[in-house]
Amino acid sequence: MSGPAHPSRPARPSGPAPRCRTLTLLAAALVLAAGPLTAVGGRPAAALGNAVAATPPMGWNTWNSFGCSIDEQLVREAADSLVASGMKDAGYDSVIVDDCWFDPRRDARGDLHGDPERFPSGMKALGEYIHARGLKFGIYQTPTDRTCAQRGHDYPGATGSQGHEQQDADTFAAWGVDHLKYDWCSEAGTLDEQIAAFTRMRDALRNTHRDIVYSINPNSYHADKTGATYDWSAVAHLWRTTEDITSAWDEHKADNSYGMSVMDIVHLNGRLGHQAGPGHWNDPDMLEVGVPGMNETEYRSHFSLWAQMAAPLIAGNRLPAMTPAVRDILTNQAVIGVDQDGLGRPARIAVDSDTELVTVRELAGGDRSVTLTNTGDTAATVSTTAAGLGIAEAPSYTVRNLWTGAAGSTTGTLAAGLAAHETAMYRVTPGGPDDR
Ligand code: GAL
Repeated sequence: MSGPAHPSRPARPSGPAPRCRTLTLLAAALVLAAGPLTAVGGRPAAALGNAVAATPPMGWNTWNSFGCSIDEQLVREAADSLVASGMKDAGYDSVIVDDCWFDPRRDARGDLHGDPERFPSGMKALGEYIHARGLKFGIYQTPTDRTCAQRGHDYPGATGSQGHEQQDADTFAAWGVDHLKYDWCSEAGTLDEQIAAFTRMRDALRNTHRDIVYSINPNSYHADKTGATYDWSAVAHLWRTTEDITSAWDEHKADNSYGMSVMDIVHLNGRLGHQAGPGHWNDPDMLEVGVPGMNETEYRSHFSLWAQMAAPLIAGNRLPAMTPAVRDILTNQAVIGVDQDGLGRPARIAVDSDTELVTVRELAGGDRSVTLTNTGDTAATVSTTAAGLGIAEAPSYTVRNLWTGAAGSTTGTLAAGLAAHETAMYRVTPGGPDDR
């Protein structure tokens, strides 16, 4: 790749204003297989235990809007905003402090501390503030000698966990940390070395006997992008499959390189669903909903597709400045319900052409969620059928549009007239109203 994943995120101009959309649901045959679904199987759960990540984690992280420019006041305000905005009630239950929170020097005993100027109250006190609002506390660290910002010379020191794994895990547990983002961010290291290092911290966390979500990123800066090519489900609760996301719709990247757009990530992560399930999730990176760079139509598509992929939903927008439209996207309970579905089976890509993307996801109880996305740059109708979705025929089914709330009964093709980059998302239930 061309260079380090750097902490200063370039601002992009906002996209065009959202267009009106005409959604047409045509009757025909979208059919669901009735009967019991098979349990998720075939993959070991993460060795830390599944309970803390039985469904994809949800929260807010400092990085996508603030990079290294963080302090305790900003994090406290974010925690307050999560509560006040209704985000917490919608399921966003973690506040994750990303890179650049730490004193660039360990103390005489080798212990980590928060940066004394920007986090003067200390990290334990910050965790208490977050916990007092009913939220969980997340923090960032690295398995190598230096964090990503340190490697890119955007932050002083070399305070990675290498050689300090148990000491740091114990420190985090003592601070009340509930979620660790553990980021490789180095060109060096074979896959075996990565597995060994990530497993060392997994075991160190387990030794603390505290429930801590373990989120790893083997990709950034690394040539091989092993997050996409190795199944990490025995090591971590979630693992990044791509280089860093950027707030852009489609950069047409073929190489999983720095600055991945929404569609680049969907093309890559959308094909890895078979390896995810309760307790072990593919992580296509944090949300850019509300981060300048895309329009509201694209934010809705981004959010729909992350839900279809059973992705962790980690918002990264400026919460106090959030517009009502962005809030409505991030708190859409119907879409979040798909993301958090208990079966934990990510969507399959049914159609992926130059102008159309269709995905279908099996949900607990026999429902399906379906997305139709117009990936082209002009308005178009996107449609699918039971055969196109690869599901068996049934006489009828009910369909609910998860963005408009409109419900209907149909026996036919599912079709939507869509603006450029727009997604229609449906929950489809076997049987029409007469059968229920
Ligand atoms: C990257 C990571 C980002 C952010 C950044 C911090 O490697 O992908 O999400 O954590 O490091 O420097």
